[in-house]
Amino acid sequence: MRVLGIESSCDETGVAIYDNADGLLAHALYSQVETHQCFGGVVPELASRDHVKWLVPLIDEALHQAKMSKSELDAVAYTAGPGLIGALLTGASFAKSFAFALNIPALAVHHLEAHLLAASLENPGLEFPYIVLLVSGGHTQLIEAHALGKYQLLGETLDDAVGEAFDKSAKLMGIPYPGGAALAKLADQCREENESQLSPFPRPMTDRPGLDFSFSGLKTHVLTIWNNSKKDEVSRRAIAKAFQDAVVETLLIKCRRALKQTGSPRLVVAGGVGANRALRASLNQLAADFHRHVYFPAPQYCTDNGAMVAFAGCLHLLQGKQDPTIAIDVRARWPLDEL
Ligand code: KG4
Ligand code: ZN
Repeated sequence: MRVLGIESSCDETGVAIYDNADGLLAHALYSQVETHQCFGGVVPELASRDHVKWLVPLIDEALHQAKMSKSELDAVAYTAGPGLIGALLTGASFAKSFAFALNIPALAVHHLEAHLLAASLENPGLEFPYIVLLVSGGHTQLIEAHALGKYQLLGETLDDAVGEAFDKSAKLMGIPYPGGAALAKLADQCREENESQLSPFPRPMTDRPGLDFSFSGLKTHVLTIWNNSKKDEVSRRAIAKAFQDAVVETLLIKCRRALKQTGSPRLVVAGGVGANRALRASLNQLAADFHRHVYFPAPQYCTDNGAMVAFAGCLHLLQGKQDPTIAIDVRARWPLDEL
């Protein structure tokens, strides 16, 4: 089954073609970072307009990469939420019209489910059940994945998502939007022996039981330390390092707790922050210490992309799922356990 996947929930237009027999056949992405950079964040109306502009050329490119014509597609899967409503509507309207014209099924995909299944794209042997650490720009959750479509929320952030905390902390120190990856790079460049003289930053909510998170205080801490620093490159690197260390250790403590609590043998990392080098190293160490397995998507499939949508759609379509009507229905908010 050859499935076209369309992702348009935020500021990335992602398109891919996944074949359950041959794997990923094509993958094309347009990132709108430059469009939104001067505004310091995503402008929803501009995001929607850019999706409209890029969907057709990206689909043409994906078909070209896969060396196939649109008539050889068997289904279209698209992100139906959660996300920016206008951006979601562009992808959903296109996907449903395209599927209708080709007389093939369309299927609404949950963006977070697509993220959490992304690790299976390159690890076909990865079996349920597993614990998912979902760390993106909009969400921070620990989830127990029992089976395809059966997810139980174990804990989540009470305020900022981890990616959001990375982006906001970067912005406070004058790093342009989206600063998360740039902040992580600065942290990795910090020469610890002479630059990182800062006292460790707090590890929020780790002294309390449970699996919830809170990251907004950490961002305020960054602001205080930055305002009391020389505001130069050395301070930026040192603060980035102390911030990243605090985030990574906090996530590590909660993952260890979730693995212990559930007895799950596997941990899967999903979402944009899953591309973070320090987090990957730390969770690999945790898995080795506890004799568990940890799986990460390749960094390009951690952030928003069409491949994860095509893949998640294909798994559900193979189980007989498809949109029951041609109505276009998207959801800005959509809890994963309501699937
Ligand atoms: O999953 P994603 O592409 O979008 C959402 O669905 O939210 O995640 C984007 C988030 C952004 O906040 C970005 O700054 C963060 O992931 N991010 C990183 C890194 N790469 C992307 N955060 C920390 N370290 C990275 N290397
Ligand atoms: Zn995402």
